[in-house]
Amino acid sequence: SRSWRGVIDEYRDRLPIPETAPAITLLEGGTPLLPAHRVSELTGCEVLLKVEGLNPTGSFKDRGMTVAISRAAEEGAKAVICASTGNTSASATAYAVRAGMTCAVLIPQGKIAMGKLAQALIHGAKLLQVDGNFDDCLELARKLSVDYPVALVNSVNPYRLQGQKTAAFEVVDTLGDAPEVHCLPVGNAGNISAYWMGYQEYAADGFTTRVPRMFGFQSSGSAPIVNGAPVTHPRTIATAIRIGNPASWALAEKARDDSGGRIDAVTDRRILAAYRLLAAEEGVFVELASAASVAGLMQAVESGHIERGTRVVCTVTGNGLKDPDWALAGASSATTIPVDAHSAATALGLA
Ligand code: F0G
Repeated sequence: SRSWRGVIDEYRDRLPIPETAPAITLLEGGTPLLPAHRVSELTGCEVLLKVEGLNPTGSFKDRGMTVAISRAAEEGAKAVICASTGNTSASATAYAVRAGMTCAVLIPQGKIAMGKLAQALIHGAKLLQVDGNFDDCLELARKLSVDYPVALVNSVNPYRLQGQKTAAFEVVDTLGDAPEVHCLPVGNAGNISAYWMGYQEYAADGFTTRVPRMFGFQSSGSAPIVNGAPVTHPRTIATAIRIGNPASWALAEKARDDSGGRIDAVTDRRILAAYRLLAAEEGVFVELASAASVAGLMQAVESGHIERGTRVVCTVTGNGLKDPDWALAGASSATTIPVDAHSAATALGLA
């Protein structure tokens, strides 16, 4: 056995990175594909979780960032810029540090989780909170990358999706074939497009007997693709996917249509229920947005869009530690006791 080398060196022949170019890596990828026993029981499907919160900065963004930053380094960039609902900025700043670059970050004021803000700051981001939403931030970042010498590392940078497609390779490498259905949360719509690219590529090369039906889920208050129109004031507690005008809209629709899948909306209430279920019954602590894939699967089984008995992979995109506020909300507070075994036993209901 050998240790995992990060997505570029594991899949270099399938990535647009020259053989001789060094990889800027934190050894991302190689994440678990975890059987979800309780969700399987509840849905009658065979459900596996691709646990992307176990990447180095705690989200799937690292897969794309290693490729985007390695390319930027190769091209001599000294500075990168991104707009973000939090995870992209956490990842971009960490990889920029590895590459010796500066990283400018534009985030929507007051709408990103505390842990993500902490990550960007501790890695030394030049951080601006914008009095606007993610869509405004992305527009600004695009403009700045055109007018100034900073490379844009949002998923409109094609190297990002190239890196993110490796998650589909890993699923197939583990299962020996593609699953029948793949469920994801959808925000800026890059990740669903990247997985679809990965699955198609493996299928074309004969590594799989099928491609999965791609199911994407937006929050009902931020569901432009489902509504068929941009949402000017997107709303959801799942701040990571609070996006009203996704950059990869057309690619995501193509993934949906070519795969025979579906993009649907789930309520914040259902997202919160799935978030709690994953933590309480699967032992997997994800962030709210990530739970949209599982909430969506459960809804799609109820409505008959996914049949019982189907083998389903749900990507859970980010680590719950990034946004502990939602775990603490509604939880009973801890009981304080003196240093005394009897008091502890009583409080625990053991005595
Ligand atoms: N889940 C999490 C935890 C995310 O951070 C994101 C996107 C998504 C799902 C949606 O993925 O955009 O490819 O459809 N976060 C971006 C960011 C927008 O700035 O971190 P997508």
